[in-house]
Amino acid sequence: MFEFLNGNKNHFIGIDFGISSIKVVELSYKDQQAHLENYGVVDLDWISSTGQVTSSNASYEQKLNDALKSLVEKMNLKHGSQTFVSIPGFSGLITIIELPEMAQDELANAIQFEAHKYIPSSLDEVAMSWEIIEYVDAQAGSQGQTKDGGKKIKVLLVAAPKKDIEHYGRLVAGTNLQVSAIELETFSIERSLVGEDSGTFLIIDIGSHATNIILVEKGVVRVNRNIDAGGNEITIAISDSMKISRQRAEAFKCGEKDFLNTTESSFIVPVLELIVGESRRILSAYLEKNNNSKIDAMFLSGGTAKMKGIEQYFSRALGQPVTIGNPWRRITFDDNAKHLVENLGASFSVAIGLALRGLDEHKRK
Ligand SMILES: Nc1ncnc2c1ncn2[C@@H]1O[C@H](COP(=O)(O)OP(=O)(O)OP(=O)(O)O)[C@@H](O)[C@H]1O
Ligand SMILES: [Mg+2]
Repeated sequence: MFEFLNGNKNHFIGIDFGISSIKVVELSYKDQQAHLENYGVVDLDWISSTGQVTSSNASYEQKLNDALKSLVEKMNLKHGSQTFVSIPGFSGLITIIELPEMAQDELANAIQFEAHKYIPSSLDEVAMSWEIIEYVDAQAGSQGQTKDGGKKIKVLLVAAPKKDIEHYGRLVAGTNLQVSAIELETFSIERSLVGEDSGTFLIIDIGSHATNIILVEKGVVRVNRNIDAGGNEITIAISDSMKISRQRAEAFKCGEKDFLNTTESSFIVPVLELIVGESRRILSAYLEKNNNSKIDAMFLSGGTAKMKGIEQYFSRALGQPVTIGNPWRRITFDDNAKHLVENLGASFSVAIGLALRGLDEHKRK
């Protein structure tokens, strides 16, 4: 969605503006595979601890822009590579609407009408895209038919405020990179962790201040929920309950101690319980609607997925194995990058998914 212009080189850059850091990855298409050329991270904790973190705050935007500029210079990223930027999941809307089958021009009007139900602001302020993801077979039973016996279609509707898209576009201004497209990070995460794999997957991306829960079926995002909490709340909980500074709590959290699977860890459960509770609701609603379905795999993603014991915690809470998603599985890299890549792990799901968007489009040409 939200296309701007097309470059034609075979280098692809993904930029993820997270609250705690900016992550950039550069991939190339080499020997018919995605290859890691370069990556970079700028820590933003100094901004979030000193200023108000909102996209409408001009000085925050300037700081982000400066931080990206110096990273782009350091990484020596070349002009002409296609660049993809994400918008946080909570900025946008992804939903599936069911409509009777109709002609394309009628459909556009019907979708506008439906969109009003989900979007309280004026539709002029929102960029929208949609695609038909399913024709429900009339033979499938009454569920697949309208009252008069006609067929139904399922439409994936995606929307994001234009002001947010413009904000993320502006963050790249002044670098030598040109933005090819901006997309909701939900799609980037889905692309790097699931891609072409068929089946049904639940992804839980836990960042620093936000959590994005995504249910993917047959390569399509079916459900998406965002929670206004993440690893930062775990740090605060450790700091408050152990009466230690935030800094020490952060170091503790990122250490070898398993806070999640011992009885003394009950103080951090509220944050994770919120995420588990929402995941359970999504799962049970999905399973109820799709009688014979099962979830083929569940993945954790984001920086908080590195927390010691988190797989075990979620596996127990959701009653099915939950593993850490691997956004690097389709990427080749030099041997000397192996250790670094392991360290970055699933915190690069968004950046990699963005760069893969360009690479996948390039492959199809
Ligand atoms: N080894 C670790 N153990 C536990 N938590 C970790 C570890 N490494 C990083 N984190 C946490 O991961 C979070 C950062 O994750 P990530 O980089 O995905 O966030 P972000 O994308 O910047 O934020 P958001 O998605 O909320 O905007 C921080 O809360 C950090 O404390
Ligand atoms: Mg993030």
